[in-house]
Amino acid sequence: MSTKTEFASKIGLIAATVGSAVGLGNIWRFPAEAQAGGGSAFLLLYVLCVLLLGVPVMLAEFFLGRGTKSDSIGAFRKLTPGSKWWTVGSAAVLASYLILCFYTVVEGWTLEYLYESITGGLFDGLGSSDTEESRLFFGARMEEYVQSDLRPLIFVAVAIAVNMGVLLGGVQKGIERLSNILMPVLFIILAVLMGVSLTLPGASEGVAYFLKPDFSKITPEVVFNALGQAFFSLSLGMGILITYSSYYPKDTRLARTSVIVALLSLLVAVMVGLVIFPAVKSFGLDNQPLQGATLVFVTLPEIFARLPLPQLWSALFFILLAVAAITSCISIAEVSVATLQDRCKMSRVKAVMCVMLPLTVLSALPSLSFGSLEWLKIFGMTIFDFLDNFSTNILLPLVSLGVCLYVGWALPSGFLRDELTNKGSYHSPLNTLSAVIIRYLAPVLIILVFVYDLL
Ligand code: PHE
Repeated sequence: MSTKTEFASKIGLIAATVGSAVGLGNIWRFPAEAQAGGGSAFLLLYVLCVLLLGVPVMLAEFFLGRGTKSDSIGAFRKLTPGSKWWTVGSAAVLASYLILCFYTVVEGWTLEYLYESITGGLFDGLGSSDTEESRLFFGARMEEYVQSDLRPLIFVAVAIAVNMGVLLGGVQKGIERLSNILMPVLFIILAVLMGVSLTLPGASEGVAYFLKPDFSKITPEVVFNALGQAFFSLSLGMGILITYSSYYPKDTRLARTSVIVALLSLLVAVMVGLVIFPAVKSFGLDNQPLQGATLVFVTLPEIFARLPLPQLWSALFFILLAVAAITSCISIAEVSVATLQDRCKMSRVKAVMCVMLPLTVLSALPSLSFGSLEWLKIFGMTIFDFLDNFSTNILLPLVSLGVCLYVGWALPSGFLRDELTNKGSYHSPLNTLSAVIIRYLAPVLIILVFVYDLL
């Protein structure tokens, strides 16, 4: 069934798609990868992966969504009725729901840190802001918090309620309106934090640390990480782009949209680098790995504690992180909402309830896996780690591979041509390049990364 819902404006559809793309991937994965991969040497690889591979694969997802105006399972069913290709769409829905379960937990942590930054509780009890002491203080605080069972669950519930509120508002009045407000907020906060970081004493050494390429750090692993990071940060293989582009008007220039989204996502990653590296270098914290959750919940609070007005900077940063998390979370929940609406002919309200209410239990499990369920292991991993690994390392590459093979090979070539050219009304030499990448280069590289990750 075709969804008639559409984004109301071009800006709105870009804001929503960028909102999905800019998430924890840009903010806590990117600095760690850049540090390990030789600063701008990694950045260069990442830019190449985003533009050469990410954009064409993003286009392939757009073709399916905008071309059929259907959810991620319906798109395959509509184009090739009776075939089994819809299983690729089902894998996307499964991946997106599993990711939603643990991403909501992290959104909850972010909201708790935001709340504690505003009330000042985050810094309560910190004796001196001396390096060793504050490291231990914020490290212990985080550990105590995630292990405390009840408090994280309360904030998971808050996160579910926030996401539900937005989703109930619908595509235009919920997702689009929120993205139109929050995306400018995100860029403004990033610019402010960048200004603060770049004016710290010794900031220029941090800029050099980030931007001076160290090509000796480039190993096959770093190349594969750059590719994985490009795919994750563009929200590929999750059904999100199929779903969102089904709300794009028919005359949307897809190639242009995908390049704008990719460039804005890259811009955020670079800006985040210019916030983190100068600050870390200025306070002499660059000797430790800038690893994901520790970077955000331990290293950065350490830095805020040493600035004048710590509450202000930490509140601003956690607003930034909350914005990134919320706009990504609603996009991934929308995959299931749209599928239920289209496949099961549910009303929006019922579909939102069916997707979000089970999360009160399903997100509680990964949340408790840091506390009283820590003993419960699946293939030797906690529930949280299992959900993360299974969805991001296995399901996402399989879905992206499926999408490329489907659009590049299984569909009649006229489909790809029509979608690339908006039915012949728009020509560009890049169209041929995109087709070649979707058919040959992307599948080969995705298989290589997949095998490499499994070994
Ligand atoms: N691009 C997103 C990010 O960087 C990927 C994502 C989207 C993850 C939606 C979860 C939910 O975080």
